[in-house]
Amino acid sequence: MTPEDLAAVGLRLDLDGPIATVTLDRPEVRNAQTPAMWIALGELGRSLPDDVRVVVVTGEGGTFSAGLDRAMLDPGTAGQESVVGLLTLGDDEASARIDAFQQGFTWLRDPRFVSIAKVRGHAIGAGFQLALSCDLRIVCDDVKLSMKESALGLVPDLTGTKPLVEHVGYARALEICATARVVGAEEAVRIGLAQASYAPADLDAAVAELAAALLAPMPGVVSETKALLQGAAERDLDKQRRLEREAQVRRFRALAEALG
Ligand code: CAA
Repeated sequence: MTPEDLAAVGLRLDLDGPIATVTLDRPEVRNAQTPAMWIALGELGRSLPDDVRVVVVTGEGGTFSAGLDRAMLDPGTAGQESVVGLLTLGDDEASARIDAFQQGFTWLRDPRFVSIAKVRGHAIGAGFQLALSCDLRIVCDDVKLSMKESALGLVPDLTGTKPLVEHVGYARALEICATARVVGAEEAVRIGLAQASYAPADLDAAVAELAAALLAPMPGVVSETKALLQGAAERDLDKQRRLEREAQVRRFRALAEALG
């Protein structure tokens, strides 16, 4: 996708060697998200260069994302790109459409890279779910996370429910989603939603330092480790230890090749 294609849907991609930074770039509406943005995010994820090993997702300005652009809920907004447009489709077609939207979020799980959400200010609804789609969340002290869908008569459907339960457990996840309450930085770190929080002036440097640490091991190591850890909770021990063995044999061979 060209920078112009991305700008047209409020996105920016900055490539710095192995680090890709994806910025939601609609600060005038607090980086509100649209279906067109989700489709573009999926395409962007699929077309990232192979040598990208860290993806940072962030928002322009002081807000990560105000979630779904409320214009998309306006019956006056026509077309299948709007959420209201889903009402014109049958159940299967509407589900397929949401599947396409979800692909704007699922690519962040790709083991080729580690994804980091750098979160300032509000991350509401789809914004919270975008942050949850990343492997790691590094937040600013002023962060306000809220799964606001229930307040609008909706459920979180942009792939956020699974990581939320994985990070905080079923009961806390239910309470956060059903009440739509705000989770601040201190609580987010305490309950495992975020890995660390920083003062506004320190956030960029902290994320840059984390990215450098993730790039320190030789290429391939972190990808293999991410793939091993991702499904570990669902696998039985025998399957997990077989995958560990297979990954290690690949590492032995890669090391031998690198050492000549
Ligand atoms: N959609 C469209 N425009 C939005 C927006 C949104 N979600 N959020 C903010 N804006 C616009 C405002 O209308 C305002 O525009 P104008 O300057 O033209 O008036 C501008 O952004 C600035 O907004 P505020 O003055 O409210 O900014 P703030 O910094 O004081 O507050 C905020 C920021 C707390 C995020 C507040 O704007 C807010 O609560 N926004 C709505 C959040 C929301 O309800 N999102 C939906 C979540 S549910 C979801 O995402 C559904 C899903 O996944 C399916």
